[in-house]
Amino acid sequence: MKNADILVLDFGSQYTQLIARRLREQGVYTELVPFNASIDTIKAKNPKGIILSGGPASVYDENAYFCDDGIFALGLPILGICYGMQLIAYKNGANVAPASHKEYGKANIEIIKECEFMSGVVDNSIVWMSHSDKVNELPKGFEVIAKSQNSEFCVFGDFERKIYAMQFHPEVAHSEFGSVMLKNFAKICGCDSTWNMGSFAKTQIQAIREKVGNDKVLCAVSGGVDSSVVAALLATAVPENLIVVFVDNGLLRTNEAKQVEEMFKLKLGVNLISIDASELFLSRLKGVRDPEKKRKIIGETFIEVFDNEAKKHTNVKYLAQGTLYTDIIESSVVGASKTIKSHHNVGGLPEWMKFELIEPLREIFKDEVRALGLELGLSRDVVFRHPFPGPGLAIRIMGEVDELSLELLRKADVILQQELKSSGWYDKTWQAFCVLLNVSSVGVMGDNRTYENAVCIRVVDASDGMTASFSRLPYDLLENCSRRIINEVSGINRVVYDISSKPPATIEWE
Ligand code: XMP
Repeated sequence: MKNADILVLDFGSQYTQLIARRLREQGVYTELVPFNASIDTIKAKNPKGIILSGGPASVYDENAYFCDDGIFALGLPILGICYGMQLIAYKNGANVAPASHKEYGKANIEIIKECEFMSGVVDNSIVWMSHSDKVNELPKGFEVIAKSQNSEFCVFGDFERKIYAMQFHPEVAHSEFGSVMLKNFAKICGCDSTWNMGSFAKTQIQAIREKVGNDKVLCAVSGGVDSSVVAALLATAVPENLIVVFVDNGLLRTNEAKQVEEMFKLKLGVNLISIDASELFLSRLKGVRDPEKKRKIIGETFIEVFDNEAKKHTNVKYLAQGTLYTDIIESSVVGASKTIKSHHNVGGLPEWMKFELIEPLREIFKDEVRALGLELGLSRDVVFRHPFPGPGLAIRIMGEVDELSLELLRKADVILQQELKSSGWYDKTWQAFCVLLNVSSVGVMGDNRTYENAVCIRVVDASDGMTASFSRLPYDLLENCSRRIINEVSGINRVVYDISSKPPATIEWE
């Protein structure tokens, strides 16, 4: 397994992975570990530097998150960001307390001391703050590097020990010179900039080979880019030990099962085992309205189906999944972040599951997966397919999932996809789908009153799914979609457009 150049200790910020990603974009291989990783785990990765991320806790809380103090004795450069900064201050004897001015959003920094860490950063540039605690005094041995209007000690460092701390988030795009500072830190650590997706593919293929040995891997594919990339990695790494399974859970879109089968068999040359488990899934979902319950049931039923398939083969020890970092952070299984929703392949795994997991994409984001897909030779239409969630249409039907609702939603969705593709908008958006609201409203068709279901169109722009804004579709296009859905799908008399961003909303409705 490759060593990490830089190791990020995750204290639960929703942005932690962005730190790793900003560094990887600059060719520095960076991995995350939970904030409480043991010093042995940290040493085993042989990092050249350590970053302490932001997080929701306060250092003076009874249940504050602390890392192993041993990291300060390793002699490695350390960078603390937001909570990480407060932790460095606190551990070095400085006072940290609730700020009288909480700071969320933009601020400007004034550079007090020019140094390697600030090389290339322009004075008075914009940074992005999100903190309610403040470091009130400089810890011993540290010097102020920059200040902001509300933070006298906005960036400070101990140049001898190469320990740096910053109050703002350099990893978010709004911090103008954030990537420059992260790169400077990597330079201080002595990292080279040689990492790329090709080297990531090689390391993952090698790691899969070592892990699988003579056992077999069951790889569950959905037709989406994530599982297709995993299947391509496995097909290169362990072609003889691979069983690729596609499950029709009854929650797919029109013709989806057929398209996936064709794609794998014809385009990727992978021998696919297709299982129709739609009745099982739909019977389990009967009467269930709660989004988290739906997600857990679907996750558990998937594993049950995989388990039954594995019994037909010998030595199936591993289950490979296209879990991404986004799924992990929002299901809250890394570090200390809060659960947003249980992504089906992460939070929905039952305790009785016997498979060991192979998740080669755990550390990366969707756009990085796409780059990897291209690197592995997958075609552009596979790589640039819109994401489709594991729990499928179940989380796009508000309330109970039944055949009638699925039918309505499928018909509406086909129209939306057709209109987006014919207008050239499909490729300009991250994701586009319909949601069946299960809300009846009054309409008038012909001369008759109608009282029927409403559909919401959700189309978003995003680069990794962690944040999103609604797509500014032309009104004419929206009008075409609305007119066709209402005219062609009997049972729907109203179409609305979702204009919420993520955050505070999420992309899917459940
Ligand atoms: P949210 O709704 O969390 O969605 O803003 C972010 C991205 O993740 C997809 N998504 C999922 N993908 N299993 C998946 O494989 C899931 O359980 C799941 N839930 C959401 C969603 O479609 C969007 O692209």
